[in-house]
Amino acid sequence: MTLAPAPQARHKDAMTERLTLRRPDDWHLHLRDGAMLAAVLPHTARQFARAVVMPNLVPPVTTVAAARAYAARIGAALPGDLRFTPLMTCYLTDGVDPAELERGWSERVFAAAKLYPAHATTNSAHGVTDVARIYPVLETMARLGMPLLVHGEVTDPAVDVFDREAVFIERVLAPLLRAVPGLKVVFEHVTTADAVAFVRATPEHLGATITAHHLVINRNALFQGGLRPHAYCLPVAKRERHRLALRQAAVSGDPRFFLGTDSAPHAARDKEAACGCAGIFSAPAALETYAAVFDQEGALDRFEAFTSRHGPAFYGLPVNSETVTLVREAWTVPETIPAAGGHLVPFHAGERLAWRLAEA
Ligand code: DOR
Ligand code: ZN
Repeated sequence: MTLAPAPQARHKDAMTERLTLRRPDDWHLHLRDGAMLAAVLPHTARQFARAVVMPNLVPPVTTVAAARAYAARIGAALPGDLRFTPLMTCYLTDGVDPAELERGWSERVFAAAKLYPAHATTNSAHGVTDVARIYPVLETMARLGMPLLVHGEVTDPAVDVFDREAVFIERVLAPLLRAVPGLKVVFEHVTTADAVAFVRATPEHLGATITAHHLVINRNALFQGGLRPHAYCLPVAKRERHRLALRQAAVSGDPRFFLGTDSAPHAARDKEAACGCAGIFSAPAALETYAAVFDQEGALDRFEAFTSRHGPAFYGLPVNSETVTLVREAWTVPETIPAAGGHLVPFHAGERLAWRLAEA
């Protein structure tokens, strides 16, 4: 990675003005389907070489054939001037067939499998009702070296929404890691200091993705001057001390933490509703948002590791050979983005960001 100071700057701590790094990957992304897919895909493909594509479509992606067909639709929706590789995932259900998982893995269709606790979030009704029921499947995955991606929240209505991730660690994740040693697990979109501490304390096989928005907002954002549906996602943003723990983890250089936007578009009309959908559409300014965080933390020298190296290392994939360049040049994120006959409201809508991705 090259950190280029302004040409006239001479002293050592001169402000970095241009940042060239290996093209990053997004290790957690919702692309949807049909017209919505066509609208959102270019925003991701402009920045990222690959993305782990979530399988929570309706119906969910549970077979090799469905994943192949979805990958083909993603390929068909990609504008001709962009190169992008989707890494497909299998949605785990109580009835998942381990043979199907193994076939998808050996045919290089599935890069990972996703565990949604049933009813934890958007389109998770077919998720797993009790993780212990699929331990035999997880053992197959451990043997194959296939990563398990977990949405880490309990669904017990008696547990406070803001505690569901921390409780998931003790009730589900820790027992799972003990029951299936050697299973590669990604604790997706971590939102708490508890999750950061747990990942740090677990020696092997456990990584975590961190979203751009959880590095920027805490739970106050949901209520700033009124109810803010575009700041609502799951896991929901937590207290400030948790946001600070996430920022520390992201910039620490610890290879267990890597980039996963969890960009999750929903039409504005579905979010601005009496029962608004969970999901923050961060793709249009994702890399720029992460860059601002690393810049604010004085950690631009560790930016490329988080965006472009830790993820491939965890998944056992090569790093990308191409590069992207960010420039310190203010720009304003659009208020809305037209999509599928309606519009989307992106993260940071109407706000100015300090970093901009230079066009290739
Ligand atoms: O906020 C979220 N939106 N969290 C999820 O886990 C799912 C996602 C979606 O698909 O909209
Ligand atoms: Zn997600």
